[in-house]
Amino acid sequence: MLIAQITDTHISAPGSRTDRFYRTAEHLERAVAHLNTLTPRPDLVLATGDLVDRGEIDEYERLRELLQPLGMPAYLIVGNHDDRGNLARVFDQHRYLPRDGGFLHYAVEDWPVRLVALDTLIPGETGGRLCGERLAWLDARLGEARERPTIVFMHHPPFITGIRKMDEMGLDGSDALATVIRRHPQVERLVCGHVHRAIVRRFAGTVACTAPATAHQLALDLRPAPLLATVMEPPGCLLHLWLGEGDGLVSHVSVIGDRHTPFTIFDGRQWLHDARPPAGFHAEGSAPLGA
Ligand SMILES: [Fe+2]
Ligand SMILES: [Fe+2]
Repeated sequence: MLIAQITDTHISAPGSRTDRFYRTAEHLERAVAHLNTLTPRPDLVLATGDLVDRGEIDEYERLRELLQPLGMPAYLIVGNHDDRGNLARVFDQHRYLPRDGGFLHYAVEDWPVRLVALDTLIPGETGGRLCGERLAWLDARLGEARERPTIVFMHHPPFITGIRKMDEMGLDGSDALATVIRRHPQVERLVCGHVHRAIVRRFAGTVACTAPATAHQLALDLRPAPLLATVMEPPGCLLHLWLGEGDGLVSHVSVIGDRHTPFTIFDGRQWLHDARPPAGFHAEGSAPLGA
């Protein structure tokens, strides 16, 4: 089973600041094409929040259009830029989304790996929260299937990243979350977004990680001053590959872009000791190796 994770797509109205500066729609189009052409193709996609930029209906409609060509089901959760009501309204075909006006959390039972989605949104705030009600819900869901390997996905990571400005917009309730997760060792991974970078940390007996964004990344700046910059590093997604009980879940970063030409060094039967890198192997303008 192959699970793709995209995050922080930040779809915005045509001509808006985000649309002009980061070209988020164009980047999501590329991400969708990337996922559709991967071999093997992912079975499903998790989209871990900040799906749109301002939580508005027209942004979700644009997102729905951009996700339409996806060749596999997508499971959506909210980030701090999202709006629960507008998301659920526009994605009315997404039956897994709760319709009771409460938190947008749910469990998906249809796959070898069980998927549990959390809602960390506090409307109007950049940071997130897991309150007692949400944690009790999580504890109950995890208690229902103790033998099934499980991925928990949520927008705000439950750990300090060292990127100080983002840590100021972190998750309230991480310690209580750790207490719940520790009770359920079937949680293989806790996967998040929000930080627009790939980061990994041990968390409550499992592994927690964040995914790179499909458009703009946040510059890696570990100085103590709370500066924040965006950077157009290559966009990416995570591929979580379930290899079964023995070999477990491995998570890969998959870079999105057409700039990367592979140089085959083993052809399935033998090592190609005399082969040379193809044209386009190095960035434009640099001389090919061994030329
Ligand atoms: Fe974001
Ligand atoms: Fe966020």
